[in-house]
Amino acid sequence: MDNASHLPRRGFLKAIHHLLATSGLLAILGPILAFFWPSSLEEVPSGPISVGDEGSIPIGSSKTVRFGRYPAMIINTEKKGLVAYNAVCTHFACIVKWNPVSDMIECPCHAGFYNPLDGSVISGPPPAPLEKLIMSIESGKIYIGTTT
Ligand code: FES
Repeated sequence: MDNASHLPRRGFLKAIHHLLATSGLLAILGPILAFFWPSSLEEVPSGPISVGDEGSIPIGSSKTVRFGRYPAMIINTEKKGLVAYNAVCTHFACIVKWNPVSDMIECPCHAGFYNPLDGSVISGPPPAPLEKLIMSIESGKIYIGTTT
């Protein structure tokens, strides 16, 4: 067997070695760089944010939007009209959704149920009600924000 036939194989193995070493280095450096230069997304928006036109959420429907780093949920209830909550469950932070059939806000993780009218806990493990967001309608647009 001549030496020349081993060179392509050796070159190929060297290239694989470099590729794996580079990906390993990037896998380690990526999170470190992300720690020092975090995303500029605000934890919670400092002012009200627009979530759509006034008629964009018909009665009996809901919409989930990004609210800073967290999702917010707007529900147009038959009894109370538009209500908005932080959509993060107060138990272990799963994302809750409104179920129009049961008319409850449901957490899929541990069967937590909230009242869509005030965000209070109906049943399950959540220790506290959902955080209520303030809502206003200006010039035909719906705005949500926090009280603080
Ligand atoms: S995270 Fe919602 S009930 Fe556990």
